[in-house]
Amino acid sequence: MNLSTLFKLNYGLYIVTSKENENFSGCTVNTVTQITAEEKPKLIVAINKENYTCELARKSEKLNISILSQEADLMLIGTFGFRTGRDFNKLQETEYKLGKNGIPIVIQNTVGYLETNVIQEIDCGTHILFLLELQEAELIDPEKESMTYGYYHKVIKGMTPPKASTYQKAQ
Ligand SMILES: Cc1cc2nc3c(=O)[nH]c(=O)nc-3n(C[C@H](O)[C@H](O)[C@H](O)COP(=O)(O)O)c2cc1C
Repeated sequence: MNLSTLFKLNYGLYIVTSKENENFSGCTVNTVTQITAEEKPKLIVAINKENYTCELARKSEKLNISILSQEADLMLIGTFGFRTGRDFNKLQETEYKLGKNGIPIVIQNTVGYLETNVIQEIDCGTHILFLLELQEAELIDPEKESMTYGYYHKVIKGMTPPKASTYQKAQ
């Protein structure tokens, strides 16, 4: 089996945020996908069980999703993708607004955002697959191109940390 075939799959790049009481975190993910469009649209996202954002989403049953633009830089992606919110306030140097659900949404280098409720969890071993129901959606900068995972690797020359769904140990 040639596991590098998996690197040919395409994704976008997002920051998902969650909050439970006064505890907040958010993390960079590439695993957001829309599943249905009828009635209330549904989406999925896979989040590593060790990520603080996963713990907060399981407790609050709410997740907001910022769709990053191609202008998102390594500082923003890295703040949310390589550090944990357990001991660091990721909002400190990030532009954000409060969603209707009270959860901060990253609006820096963001094309648009989604507010969702968690309606189901599937345990996938290292990751929880969250099934999400859309509650709110807004465009912020619709003329900008959305960031793709390919662009992040090829143009920005970004790395993938071990907790990402697509991480593979160097052979
Ligand atoms: C490009 C990129 C893609 C990532 N994709 C995912 C993903 O799909 N799922 C996931 O759980 N973590 C993913 N991560 C890792 C998390 O963003 C990272 O573990 C983060 O530090 C967790 O922060 P938290 O502990 O505050 O939640 C990705 C990171 C990067 C840089």
